[in-house]
Amino acid sequence: MKRQDVFQAILADRSRAPGRDGRGSACANIALCKYWGKRDVELNLPVTSSLSVTVPDFGAETVVRPVEGPNRLTLNGETCEADDLRAQRVFDFLTLLPGRGEASFEVLSDSRVPVGAGLASSASGFAALVLALNDLYGWTLDTRELSILARLGSGSACRSMLSGFVEWHAGERTDGMDSFAEAVGAPWPGLCLGVITVTDAPKPIGSREAMRRTVDTSILYRKWPDRAAADLNAIKTAIAQKDMEALGTAAEGNALAMHATMLDSRPPILYALPRTVEILQTVWNLRAEGIAVYATMDAGPNVKLLFEASSSEAVGAAFPDVQTFDLFGGV
Ligand code: PMV
Repeated sequence: MKRQDVFQAILADRSRAPGRDGRGSACANIALCKYWGKRDVELNLPVTSSLSVTVPDFGAETVVRPVEGPNRLTLNGETCEADDLRAQRVFDFLTLLPGRGEASFEVLSDSRVPVGAGLASSASGFAALVLALNDLYGWTLDTRELSILARLGSGSACRSMLSGFVEWHAGERTDGMDSFAEAVGAPWPGLCLGVITVTDAPKPIGSREAMRRTVDTSILYRKWPDRAAADLNAIKTAIAQKDMEALGTAAEGNALAMHATMLDSRPPILYALPRTVEILQTVWNLRAEGIAVYATMDAGPNVKLLFEASSSEAVGAAFPDVQTFDLFGGV
C-alpha cells in the first residue's frame, strides 16, 4: 500500500477545496519506550508499540496556504532552499494530498524546539503540518485519523498529536489503519524532563537509515520486540502508580537496549560521544547517592533526564547546563 492510498482512504469524501490559511501547532515528544524498526518502510509502520511523553509549550506552529509557483518552506523566518532536506520532506509529503492537481503551497513554520537539543523537531513539525492542512481544508478529522496522517510524514510525529503520556499502537494491519497514537495514563504533576545538549552538530546518520541497518543486520534486534513489550508494560504500570524508580529503570533500560542493537549492527552505529558516557556515569553515581534520576537517549548523542521536581536541585547541581521542562505542571 502507498501513502497516497492512506490519505485517500482517510479523506474519502471530505473537502478538497482549500480555504485561505490553515493553522496548526503541536509539541515535541520524548519516547520512554522507543520506536525502533519498521515493519513497513513506506507507511512508517513500527515493529513494536511505543510510549512517549509530550513536552508542553515546546513545538511547532505552522501556517499553510495555497500559492502560485513552486512550493515554499520558511522555517523560523528563513526560507529554505529547494534542495534543503527538510524542504524536500515537506514538499514530498504535500504531494500525497489527493486531488491536489498542480496546487503549490507556502508553509511557514516557527519551531520553539531549541535547535540541536535532541527534541526531534520533525515530530512536532509533521504533526503541526497535518493539523494546519486539516484546518486549511476543513477536514475535521479525529485525533486517530490525524495521528495516522502525521505518521506518514515521520513515525514519531503521530505521538505529537496528543499531550501527556501517549501510546502509539504498532497495529497489525498492512494498511496501518490500526497503527495510531492514543493518550494513556493520568497526568503526573512534578515529573520533569532535563535536556543536556552534548552537541548540536548534524548527526552522522539519520534515524531512518539507522533503523533500516539495525533491522537488517543486528542479531540482537531479534530480541527487541520482547524487550520493548516488557518495557512498555512496566512503563504503563509505573505511570499508573506514579512509581519513579520503576518508570526510570524501564525507560533508561529501554533506551540503552535500543542503542545496544545499533552497536550490534554491521557496520556499527554509535551515537554516544565521550561526554554522553560521562553524563550516564554521573546519573548512575547520583542514583547511588539516592537521587532518583534516569537517562534516556534517542538517535543522537544528547541525553534527556527523567526525575521528579524534588530532585531538581541535585540534578541542576550535577549538570549546570541542563534545560529542565516541567511536563505536567508543578506539585
Ligand atoms: O520518527 P523518527 O523517524 O524520527 O524516529 C524516531 C526514533 C527515536 O527517536 C530514536 C525513538 C522514538 O520513539 O522517538
